[in-house]
Amino acid sequence: MTDELILILDFGSQFGQLIARRVRELNVFCQVVRHDISAERIHELRPKGIILSGGPASVYEANAPKCDVKLFDLNIPVLGICYGMQLAAQALGGKVGGSDTREYGRATLHVKDAVPLFQAVPRETTVWMSHGDQVQTVDGDFVALAATDTCPVAAVKHSRRPVYGLQFHPEVSHTPHGGQILANFLRDVCGCQGLWKMQTFIDSTVAQIRERVGDKRVICGLSGGVDSSVCAALLLKAIGPQVACIYVDNGLMRESETELVRHAFKDWYHADLHVVDASITFLAALKGVTDPQEKRKIIGREFIEAFKREAKSIPGAQFLAQGTLYPDVIESGGAPDGPAATIKLHHNVGGLPAELGFDLVEPLRDLFKDEVRRLGVELGLPEDVVWRHPFPGPGLAVRCLGDVTEEKLATLRKADTIFLEELHKSGWYRKTAQAFAVLLPVQSVGVMGDGRTYENTVALRAVQTDDFMTADWSRLPEDLLARVATAIINRVKGVNRVVYDISSKPPATIEWE
Ligand code: XMP
Repeated sequence: MTDELILILDFGSQFGQLIARRVRELNVFCQVVRHDISAERIHELRPKGIILSGGPASVYEANAPKCDVKLFDLNIPVLGICYGMQLAAQALGGKVGGSDTREYGRATLHVKDAVPLFQAVPRETTVWMSHGDQVQTVDGDFVALAATDTCPVAAVKHSRRPVYGLQFHPEVSHTPHGGQILANFLRDVCGCQGLWKMQTFIDSTVAQIRERVGDKRVICGLSGGVDSSVCAALLLKAIGPQVACIYVDNGLMRESETELVRHAFKDWYHADLHVVDASITFLAALKGVTDPQEKRKIIGREFIEAFKREAKSIPGAQFLAQGTLYPDVIESGGAPDGPAATIKLHHNVGGLPAELGFDLVEPLRDLFKDEVRRLGVELGLPEDVVWRHPFPGPGLAVRCLGDVTEEKLATLRKADTIFLEELHKSGWYRKTAQAFAVLLPVQSVGVMGDGRTYENTVALRAVQTDDFMTADWSRLPEDLLARVATAIINRVKGVNRVVYDISSKPPATIEWE
């Protein structure tokens, strides 16, 4: 992919993927690999540097995850973060032990020696700590570079080897100069120039797709979301007329969604776009169904049927393109040299079964979401598509609580559109990770003019999150919420009350069903 590779050995840190994203932001390609990858394999991969991630274990526990200690003899620069630093110190003769106090949260770091990790970093700077153990003392081989009030060895370097350690987490946003510290490691210690650029990715991926696909046809499923749109745009660039896009309108889409897809792909890219209008079938199958999981199952099944039918009408198709991203590849255990699968509840709606018999093309397998967005911009996709919030496969069905009817969907679409428009106008759309309206099957009493009303409730949900596994509710400004509530109650027939959801995930989920 590029000559500059950084390997991140994963010891189970909650921040493992965040380290990878920070490295990529510095235009250096990196991969998350299993913690016990052999030194021989590392040597073959020829990385410019190795980062040992943090992790929940203590290096003294019997089953603590270890790395192959021979990697320290490869003369490849190593940066150990938290657990990774303790591991490096232990392997090279340092002394690690439990600290008197577990340290969790912000601390002030006092830098003693700025070369090379702390160049352009203030002598006193805030860092994020999260550890029980720490390196207690350093002997002749290790030199302490920085300390906090409770951690005398908060950063180290080895005096003879290119091995460094940080007790704090440079990858999290609570360490404001963490990006600079990582940049110093990558540039000054590893000698990386930052050659990982989107254009390089596009050129090499286009060449790979052409080689793999030859003159065969590829079917690309479009959902209206960012990932499938970028995947399709990339394929269209690589093998234009050989691509057929299928978009299934399940009748559960947001306002104007189908038009947006049609406009982007048919009018703009002149793609062979097949819009399958299956809304009648979906709504008939969902009639009277109230159980959320049952709704998901029905929608998943109908989607596969509709997709299969349309795919049959495309002769000579051998490949199916999917917008699978790097986090999913890592979490499903599918990355070469990558860590084992982590348990994550995948919402499998929209997934297509292997029995369809196609060979898979997954050109976004190496990318994080923010990189996919940058790629979309480079490929000329409209801003509305590139910056769209994620939308669940079962669509508005899981935001229309209880049974789903055309009438309820129309009400929900109107309320949702008003909310999203106000978020766009106020600049808050890009500041939230996901925002939407939910129609509750709850009637309550209201007064409108001189009359008493007994109508539905709309809940607004807006969240901040990096990975959608945990999320906090967005602190939207009061006046924005007030404008949205007034507009919905005035303009959406059948709604007389609007509430704002202030639950975080966990324990609540982002969607209501
Ligand atoms: P929850 O509600 O579990 O959602 O906190 C986390 C993220 O996943 C999306 N989501 C789904 N996506 N099919 C999907 O493709 C589904 O059934 C599904 N349910 C939730 C949700 O929108 C959020 O981004």
